[in-house]
Amino acid sequence: MSNKLIILGADHGGFLLKNEIREYLKQNGYTVEDLGTNSADSVNYANIAAEVSHEVAARGATGILVCGTGIGMSIAANKVKGIRAAVCSEYFSAKYTRLHNDANILCLGARVLGSGLALELVDVFLNTEFEGGRHVERIACISKIEDEEHIG
Ligand code: RB5
Repeated sequence: MSNKLIILGADHGGFLLKNEIREYLKQNGYTVEDLGTNSADSVNYANIAAEVSHEVAARGATGILVCGTGIGMSIAANKVKGIRAAVCSEYFSAKYTRLHNDANILCLGARVLGSGLALELVDVFLNTEFEGGRHVERIACISKIEDEEHIG
């Protein structure tokens, strides 16, 4: 059970898994906003990634983005200031990107993962807190790069 706000998005390659994640999160007490897509009609993953990322950054929420591989979503999401998006396909990375990178968006590949593993990755990502300490300075360094590159 959690009162965290989770914002979801997917392209046509990821919408079925995204829907499954949405129902799983609702059943587990999360507040969920689903920004689509909701059909197999082709859409550009970058537009969905941008929409979700802007909401996550503005509202201090957590995002989950699903496309075929998770990679296009992560590349696009990481262009938005304040976003640290990680594409994960195994448990260790999903845990450590929260502990060390304070990732605020999890990207998943619906053509890479079975839904059982995907839900496990969602669980560990959402239930692992940032470790802080030496990692704070490293994250600040990433923010400085964003400012210098005028991203956002
Ligand atoms: C769509 O065919 C596919 O390119 C997209 O879902 C994603 O895998 C991109 O990274």
